[in-house]
Amino acid sequence: MRLHRPVFVVGCMWVTAIVALLPSSPAHAQTTLASTPPMGWNSWNHFAKKVTDADVRAAADALVASGMRDAGYIYVNIDDTWEGQRDAQGNIQTNSKFPDMKALADYVHSKGLKLGIYSSPGPKTCAGYEGSYGHEQQDADTYAKWGVDYLKYDLCSYRNVMKTESNGDQQKAWTMMQQAYEKMHQALLNTHRPIVYSLCQYGWDAVWNWGPKVGGNLWRTTGDISDNYDRMSLIGFSQAGLAKYAAPGRWNDPDMLEVGNGRMKPDEYRTHMSLWAMLAAPLLAGNDLSKMDDTTKSILMNKEVIAVDQDALGVQGDRVHATGPFEVWMKPLQDGSKAVALFNRSESDYPITVQLKDVGFDGPVQARDLWSHADLGTLNGSYTVVVPRHGVVMLRLKP
Ligand code: GLA
Repeated sequence: MRLHRPVFVVGCMWVTAIVALLPSSPAHAQTTLASTPPMGWNSWNHFAKKVTDADVRAAADALVASGMRDAGYIYVNIDDTWEGQRDAQGNIQTNSKFPDMKALADYVHSKGLKLGIYSSPGPKTCAGYEGSYGHEQQDADTYAKWGVDYLKYDLCSYRNVMKTESNGDQQKAWTMMQQAYEKMHQALLNTHRPIVYSLCQYGWDAVWNWGPKVGGNLWRTTGDISDNYDRMSLIGFSQAGLAKYAAPGRWNDPDMLEVGNGRMKPDEYRTHMSLWAMLAAPLLAGNDLSKMDDTTKSILMNKEVIAVDQDALGVQGDRVHATGPFEVWMKPLQDGSKAVALFNRSESDYPITVQLKDVGFDGPVQARDLWSHADLGTLNGSYTVVVPRHGVVMLRLKP
C-alpha cells in the first residue's frame, strides 16, 4: 500500500482510515491518466533518427514561447534513437546524443511540461537500438528514476520473437503480443509513478478490443503516417467505426500530426487537424516547433478546434454521412453542442450540405465556424457551404 500524498487534515482521519483499508490499486493511478487525449510533441516525424538533447530542449522552449503549452500541448516525447547500451548490471544507458536524461527531464519539468520516452518489447527498437526485452521492470524503474511521464512502446522486433516462438500459430502469436504489453504495464504500475502508456503495434489484432485491458491509455490504430494528403487522409478517414472503443483514459491513436512539416497545403493540414480533433485523437505535433510560420501556428493553436478534441465528454466522433468524396462527421460535446465537420476529399472546391437531422438536431441551432471564428447565426433544416478541395468546414452547433 502506498499513499501518494501525506494526509494533511487531522479532522479527516476517517478518510485516512478508509483509504488505508482500500486494497492497493495501482490500476487506478493508470486509468486517471489521459482523461482527455494526450497533447504534446514527438520527435519522430521531423527529426527521426537525428534527434538530440538540444532538439528536445528547443522543442520544450518553443512549446512555451509559442503559446502551445498554454493551449494544452504538455508532453515532450522523445521517440526512437535515444538508447545506448546496457551497463554491466543491465541498466539501459542513453547514447551520446542524450548525455543526461535526468537533467533533460528536470529541464522539461521546469518549463511546466512532461517528458515522454520510447522503447520496444523486442530486443531491438524499430531503428535498431536497444529494446526492453528481458529488462522490462529494470527499464520502467529507470524511466521512473529519470522522471519520465509517458512511454510509447513499439512492437518492432518483438514480431520476430512472436514468429519464432509461435511456430506459425497466429493465435499464440497474438497472445504473446498482448502479454508483452501487459508485462510492461505491470512494470510501469510497479514504479508507482503515473506514466501514460502508449501502445504502438499498428492496430494489429484489433488492439482497440484489448488495449484497455493491458493498461493502454492510447493505442495506434494504423501503420505510420507520412507528410502527404493521401496517406494522412487514408489513415484519418479509415477511423470511421472505432468511436465506441474510445473513452477517457483510453484513446484510439491514428498517429502523430504532420502539420507544419511542409508537404501538405494549408487546407490539407486544416483537414488533418480537424479530423484528428473529431476523432478525439492524441494531438502530438511532429514538426520543428522552433521554426513555425503563422499558418502552422494558427492550425496547431486553433483553440476552438482543440476544445473539440479535448472535450470532457470524451466521446470520439464518427462519420454520419458520405456522398462519394464528401463526408460529414459529428462529435457530441459535453454542453449538448455537436462538432460537425464537412470534408471535401475531391479534387475541386464543392458545395457540401449537412442536414441537421443527420447530426441529431430536430430544431434550430446556433452555429459557429471554428476556422473562420465567426458566428453564423441560427440554422434551420440544413446548411450548405462551399468546401475547398481537400479542405474542411468545421462547425460547432448548439441547440
Ligand atoms: C515505428 C513507429 C513510428 C516510430 C518509429 C521509430 O515505425 O510506428 O511511430 O516510432 O518506429 O523507429
